[in-house]
Amino acid sequence: MNPNKDLWEKGDFTRIAATMRESGEALVQRIGVKSGMKVLELGGGDGTTALPEAKLGAEVLVVDIASNLVEAGNRRAKEQGLTNIKFQEGDASNLEQLPDKTFGLVVSIFGAMFAPRPFDVAKEMVRVTKPGGRIVMGNWIPNDPTLVAQILKISSSYTPPPPEGFVSPMTWGIENNVVERFTAAGVSADNVSFVRDTFTFNYPGSPSGFVDEFRKYYGPTMNAFAAAEKNGRAADLQKELEALFESQNQSDDKNKTSIPASFLRVTVSV
Ligand SMILES: C[S@@+](CC[C@H](N)C(=O)[O-])C[C@H]1O[C@@H](n2cnc3c(N)ncnc32)[C@H](O)[C@@H]1O
Repeated sequence: MNPNKDLWEKGDFTRIAATMRESGEALVQRIGVKSGMKVLELGGGDGTTALPEAKLGAEVLVVDIASNLVEAGNRRAKEQGLTNIKFQEGDASNLEQLPDKTFGLVVSIFGAMFAPRPFDVAKEMVRVTKPGGRIVMGNWIPNDPTLVAQILKISSSYTPPPPEGFVSPMTWGIENNVVERFTAAGVSADNVSFVRDTFTFNYPGSPSGFVDEFRKYYGPTMNAFAAAEKNGRAADLQKELEALFESQNQSDDKNKTSIPASFLRVTVSV
């Protein structure tokens, strides 16, 4: 059993991804995707950023650990008539199926940060990037006051501690850790740059309806509820999440929820 794979095959991340589409498209406009460019998307889910890249004419390969999301991505590409994109199963910590120096752009938005062994992830991303190419990562930031960092923080406070040696995915949101991982992969520190960026989640319902989506479909929150139920703390967790979602909601329409979340956008020149 692979706990990393199980976590993301649990539930149905497409339900959360459906609230991220506008921001996914807008982000792709900002990262210089060009027609004909070979793009690798790591942990691309069902294609929030990968489909917009293919629509701009890039040749896109998506590698994701969750078979249900690979299937959903291929289905969405087919429905949208895109023939220049393929989703396949694989692990960002070990891309042995991909040759060296293949992609002009490697993108991972809230994806590879969840893979185990971050030094291997950085090494693999650098290895498959063509010299002169770029890597772009979007990583949630530990202790950031906005939505996703807070969901993960609250969820982890209800979940048993991870096994010894586990490296928190949130460390990808710390600049020094990111530089350390890419320099270990042979990149000069001067070629790693950072900007703060924002993704907005748009859900067609109330904030508490959106909490329910996370409770039913988002692996880390599902695990937190499973653990909280065992300790009789599920109602506390629900209350904490509802307060968070209510306080962060920026929509005036009570039938809509709109919540911005900050992340660290990392660009690496290879
Ligand atoms: C929060 S979702 C983001 C999905 C997508 N990038 C998006 O923005 O909609 C995290 C994604 O990373 C994938 N993932 C987690 N660990 C992975 C690994 N070791 N290798 C490849 N993909 C992984 C999950 O299956 C999931 O699709």
